[in-house]
Amino acid sequence: MNPRTDEPLIVQEVAPRDGLQIEPTWVETRDKVALIDRLSKAGFSRIEAGSFVSPKAIPALRDGEAVFRQITRRPGVIYVALVPNLKGAERALAACADELNLVMSASETHNRANMRMSCSASRDGFADIVRCVAGSRVGLNATVATAFGCPFEGPIDENRVIGIVAAYQEMGIPNVTLADTTGMANPRQVARLVSRVLERLSADSLTLHFHNTRGLGLANVLAAYDAGARRFDAALGGLGGCPFAPGASGNICTEDLINLCDEMGIPTGIDLQQLIALSRELPELLGHDVPGQVAKAGRNCDLHPVPEYIGSL
Ligand code: COA
Ligand code: ZN
Repeated sequence: MNPRTDEPLIVQEVAPRDGLQIEPTWVETRDKVALIDRLSKAGFSRIEAGSFVSPKAIPALRDGEAVFRQITRRPGVIYVALVPNLKGAERALAACADELNLVMSASETHNRANMRMSCSASRDGFADIVRCVAGSRVGLNATVATAFGCPFEGPIDENRVIGIVAAYQEMGIPNVTLADTTGMANPRQVARLVSRVLERLSADSLTLHFHNTRGLGLANVLAAYDAGARRFDAALGGLGGCPFAPGASGNICTEDLINLCDEMGIPTGIDLQQLIALSRELPELLGHDVPGQVAKAGRNCDLHPVPEYIGSL
């Protein structure tokens, strides 16, 4: 691997959405707002701050309106909302989200499990959303979930993913995320698919969304970066997962990713110390340990006192 280290890597923080959507413990609105506000201060340019989905599907995020109303909008930060349908888009627009992230799976089965509709019904809904936001300043991104594999259907044909990206473009959706919903991607597959998608889209318009379900998350980031991708989702503490994908587990961990970038000299603009401090508060907020490793180990430069017995040797 020999990524060019001069080009910045942009991290979109998704803990407030992907991270919290699967948590069984209710996180109070004020705690969500405090988390987002502190993430804004840590240097992120993009934060997925919540979703506007059915409150029956994802009760943990049912306070999306209140969260978007109460956060402090830091200039230069784009606050993104995930939406599944027109109703979600209308709620997100009313809550002044800066960008909508529309989600459909490459796998028909996962789309039915997650969105309770066919892929074709999802696409029809997206066309309605594009019409609804036309002329406004709100940004549009569409995610291809299960782009690297599906927990029900197994491997996903790369041509199918490319076809969905093309369909999004034809609909007038400029930005695309390829999501590895249950951590089935491997670095060679990632490099191949990213290269193919970058023939259609600029690196500014492509985001990679990896889960670390099988321990390959950061290897996949480097493979994607090497292939020209520059934007990545990650969640503080390595939280996250889709409640409608069996075996789902956390996103790649933001502070582990920033540590990787810092150590390799890839600029991100994000303050690792602030992230570690924030991540260390997660177990108390959520009532359980979190998967991230750097918040436990500390940074390479956080050295330990030399044991006294060494002096007498
Ligand atoms: N926000 C809030 N409520 C919504 C909604 C939205 N975006 N979309 C639909 N609803 C409500 C309807 O108003 C209706 O309410 P009612 O029962 O009080 O009349 C109810 O949900 C059912 O509506 P319907 O259109 O039949 O939805 P559904 O039950 O077929 O579910 C989705 C479809 C897309 C709304 C639901 O599957 C969903 O929210 N999925 C998202 C899952 C998710 O977030 N996964 C993780 C992120 S990828
Ligand atoms: Zn995810």
